Amino acid sequence: MRPHIVVLGNEKGGSGKSTTAMHITVACLKMGLRVGVIDLDGRQRTLARYLENRADFCKRHNLNLKVPHFAALTPLEADGHTNVEEKEAMLLDAAVAEISHGKDILIVDCPGSNTNLGRLGHLLADTLVTPINDSFVDFDLLAKVDPDTLKIKRPSFYSEMVWSTRQQRASAGGTPVDWVVMRNRLSHLDAKNKKRVDQAIRDLSRRVGFRYVDGLSERVIYREMFVNGLTLLDLRETGAGGSMTMSHVAARQELRDLMTGLKLPGFAEQITAKSA
Ligand SMILES: Nc1ncnc2c1ncn2[C@@H]1O[C@H](COP(=O)(O)OP(=O)(O)OP(=O)(O)O)[C@@H](O)[C@H]1O
Ligand SMILES: [Mg+2]
Repeated sequence: MRPHIVVLGNEKGGSGKSTTAMHITVACLKMGLRVGVIDLDGRQRTLARYLENRADFCKRHNLNLKVPHFAALTPLEADGHTNVEEKEAMLLDAAVAEISHGKDILIVDCPGSNTNLGRLGHLLADTLVTPINDSFVDFDLLAKVDPDTLKIKRPSFYSEMVWSTRQQRASAGGTPVDWVVMRNRLSHLDAKNKKRVDQAIRDLSRRVGFRYVDGLSERVIYREMFVNGLTLLDLRETGAGGSMTMSHVAARQELRDLMTGLKLPGFAEQITAKSA
């Protein structure tokens, strides 16, 4: 059976795709789901490196944290005679077939730019998660706003790309994509900007058809744990980050809320079963 495919996408670089992908991956593993990962940003390899760091950390500390089966795909160089786009599509199909085997969930992390692999990745999505930073700079890739009223003038190219992906998927007989936009690096300061961005996302969600869920706050811990391949959910098991602080507890709660908001199949059932 094919796993449910969660794609992290946004052409805006640095919006938190890989960090969010890692946290969703570990949250699903902790729930007992069988998870596979494909990093389509094979040049940067942030998510693949994150997972390699996790495996290294386990070796160094003789720990047995779950590490998913993963692969990274690097964009091919044009050589004048190979059809690069076709070859990349074949390589992606092969990676999906290999990594999906026996899995419940497949997490696919896309690059922060418009590449062939990124576009193909979007076509795979059952759930598309788009993190955006709390700023009109990031919002600009989703829609253009009127500078005086901040009302939406028109969707911009990333929203259009998702629209065309939805059409391609529908004409191929695929199930509709659940597109979820989440804000990342929410600041505790600057309440006015936060409210304006929030309103703009709400307006756009009705217009282009995505769900809008609460995301992650700006926290140093999201940056610090990469080198050891850890997430907020590994703090207790590894003792990383020292003793649990109020900030850790709040961060874990926001991650839990995000996972609930994503409504991934298998995950919701597991939460209900655990709390019953
Ligand atoms: N909630 C957060 N709080 C603090 N720092 C964060 C948060 N989310 C991400 N970061 C940091 O922001 C930077 C970009 O994050 P990340 O690499 O996940 O983004 P990305 O969208 O995958 O980037 P790219 O488009 O280059 O692939 C990293 O340094 C990461 O540690
Ligand atoms: Mg990334």
